[in-house]
Order: sequence, then C-alpha cells, then structure tokens
Amino acid sequence: MSRPWPCPSPEVHRNAAVVILRLPPPPSSHRNEDAVKHSVFARVYPRLATWAEAAGAAEHRRELLAGATGRVIEIGAGHGANFPHYPATVTEVLAVEPEPTLRARAERAARSAPIPVTVADGTAEALPTAGSSFDVAVTSLVLCSVRDVPTALAEIRRVLREDGELRFYEHIRSHDRHFARYQRFADVLWPHFSGGCHLVRPTDETIAESGFTVTEARYLRFPAPAVPMSPHVLGRARITGD
Ligand SMILES: C[S@@+](CC[C@H](N)C(=O)[O-])C[C@H]1O[C@@H](n2cnc3c(N)ncnc32)[C@H](O)[C@@H]1O
Repeated sequence: MSRPWPCPSPEVHRNAAVVILRLPPPPSSHRNEDAVKHSVFARVYPRLATWAEAAGAAEHRRELLAGATGRVIEIGAGHGANFPHYPATVTEVLAVEPEPTLRARAERAARSAPIPVTVADGTAEALPTAGSSFDVAVTSLVLCSVRDVPTALAEIRRVLREDGELRFYEHIRSHDRHFARYQRFADVLWPHFSGGCHLVRPTDETIAESGFTVTEARYLRFPAPAVPMSPHVLGRARITGD
C-alpha cells in the first residue's frame, strides 16, 4: 500500500531511532559527571579573594572557624583561603577540592597552614571519606556552586559524627524580594563568569530543611555596596536528632 508523503514507513522510523541512539552524546555529557573544571575562574578567584580578605572576608573566616575542635572536613576548599584561620584546637583538616588548578594551590597553601591539612580530590556530592568521622564540616562560598545541594548536605550529614557541627559562610538569596528579583536577573549570566556560582539559592533555608538544626545564623551584607552576591549568612548547625 502506498503512503501519502511525508508519512514514512514504520521501518524508516525504526532506522531513524537507531541512528539517533547511535549519535555521539552532546558535548556536556562527554565530561565526567563529577568533573569540576573552571580554568579561568580558578585563576581569577584567588586574586578576587585577596581583595575580599582585606575588605573583611578574613574576619568572617575567623568567625566561621572560631572554637572549632577535632577533625574537620572542608568542602570545596578552593585555594585554601580558610587554612590560615583554623585554630590550634583543630587536630587535622581534610580539604576536598574538585577543581584541579585550585586544588594545586590549596596543596601549596596546606604546607604553611598552622594545622595539618590534607588536600583531596572529590566533590561535595560524593565526599571521599568514611561516614561518621568528622567533628566539624565547613562550607564557605561553596553551596552556591555545587550541582546538587540536597545531596551535598546529605553527604555532610553522613561524614559528621552524631554530635558534629556544620559551619557555613555562604552568600544567599536575599530575604528582600526586590533585591532577590535583581539577583534573579543577574543570575542569568553570573554562573558563566563565576565557576557555576548561583545568586538565588536560599542556602540558609535549605540547610534547615535538610536534617540540620541551625543553632546560629548571622546575616550580613558583604561587600556593603549592594552587588548581587552581597547577602551572606554566617552560621552553625547540628544534625537534627530523632
Ligand atoms: C567561590 S569558590 C570558594 C572557595 C573556598 N571555599 C573559599 O572560601 O574561598 C567555590 C568553590 O567551590 C568548588 N566547587 C564547585 N563545585 C563543587 C562540588 N560539586 N563539590 C565541591 N566543591 C565544588 C569550586 O571548585 C571552588 O573551589
């Protein structure tokens, strides 16, 4: 029986499906799903961070880490900006960093850290360590960039001891809806220039909804002139008991 054009026969459909299935995957899925590589950002970020340290971030990092004790896991350690601020009560730090250029710089920074720091490759979504083995987990300016925040927080819960503590210093979606709208607008392009960082994550709320009880949260604007990433939270949380 002849078919009216353009309706192809079932055989043509079958052949087309086979061809589509055999096409190479799109460029993004050529990469290892866990790979984090932002070469340009990795070169620029340490310079920006040096400026930010002098403008007040160093003080925030000290506040973040003050009183931490025992074994610490730092997730997304970058080039190691937190390392100089660990107090002597910390016995060791496992610093996990997936981006190769930043990890190499973190390894250099670890050599002059005041406490023993081991730098490891790995992502927040699959921390390269055993469960229930850390007293403190630290995230600073990281949960804005990880691909899967709930999985990252579940991983943090897994590696923390029952009475362990999460210390966080993160920029967040503003609680002011007008400012949040400005952030949403900026977030269209921002991640392309900032290593995949997003401006509109309500990280403070997500932590509280992910099996943690927030025990301290200080909200601040940094830097003070309102750039889209100014709204920050500096806080502490414990695993919520049964
Ligand atoms: C803005 S930098 C912050 C670095 C450092 N924590 C600091 O306070 O300066 C964001 C960091 O998150 C890291 N990162 C991105 N995706 C990640 C992931 N899935 N798991 C762990 N770290 C990640 C980046 O490689 C980068 O080091």
